Amino acid sequence: MNFSTDTGIKYAELRKNQLDTCWQWLSSGLDWGPDDVVLDIGCGTGAYTKLLVDRGNIKSITGYDKSRDFIDVARQVNFEDGKTTYEVADATDTSTLKPEWKSAFTKAISIGVFQFIEDKKAFFKNVYMCLKPGTRNQLERLVIECGFSEVNVEEGGRYLYGNHNKEEFKNMIEVLFGQIQHIPPDRKQEFIEDAYQKLVEINHRDEKDRLCIKGLFWFLTAKK
Ligand SMILES: C[S@@+](CC[C@H](N)C(=O)[O-])C[C@H]1O[C@@H](n2cnc3c(N)ncnc32)[C@H](O)[C@@H]1O
Repeated sequence: MNFSTDTGIKYAELRKNQLDTCWQWLSSGLDWGPDDVVLDIGCGTGAYTKLLVDRGNIKSITGYDKSRDFIDVARQVNFEDGKTTYEVADATDTSTLKPEWKSAFTKAISIGVFQFIEDKKAFFKNVYMCLKPGTRNQLERLVIECGFSEVNVEEGGRYLYGNHNKEEFKNMIEVLFGQIQHIPPDRKQEFIEDAYQKLVEINHRDEKDRLCIKGLFWFLTAKK
């Protein structure tokens, strides 16, 4: 995916109201503390990277993403001196990872990225490479093949984006699906409206007339 800086800024704004939910996930699965040197793979504009600094009392966090535009935004809006570092790198291409990242991190997180990864084996090999031995990290056979043990994958589901009104929702469709930027400007809004209408058609509304979309997720933990 490639995103413009403008799209990145809108995306960063939208994510802010999802921080509480994300923190619930992060803090229910893992303990965070001052010894933690964390890697955020596919950090986007750094909203969750900075969340861990703000709420996890961690030592430091390095976020990387293959989108240079997103990293530029992360450096502007989610930077904290001495705590955050943002770099451009591809999670499936070892040559783009910094040599000093090898065995350097106590924990690795990657939120909303895995579905975009084609070479999942390369992805996990690179996660493995960057973690310190003995640390606990978060698709079973594939992960074991890469060297991990004590692998546990749990499937969950929750309704997403139920609070967003139509305009916010359409905005979210535009920034979540980067391909939309390639639609000619005079057809873009029509496309987004059609996508919205399709979502309305295939999903249900709750008693407060909010559109509810069921999002599935997988929570993976494994040990190096
Ligand atoms: C839905 S966004 C999630 C961003 C961030 N983790 C968050 O939750 O706010 C997916 C991100 O994965 C990044 N991405 C996709 N494939 C990648 C890869 N191979 N290496 C690094 N980043 C990647 C995209 O550039 C995008 O920023």
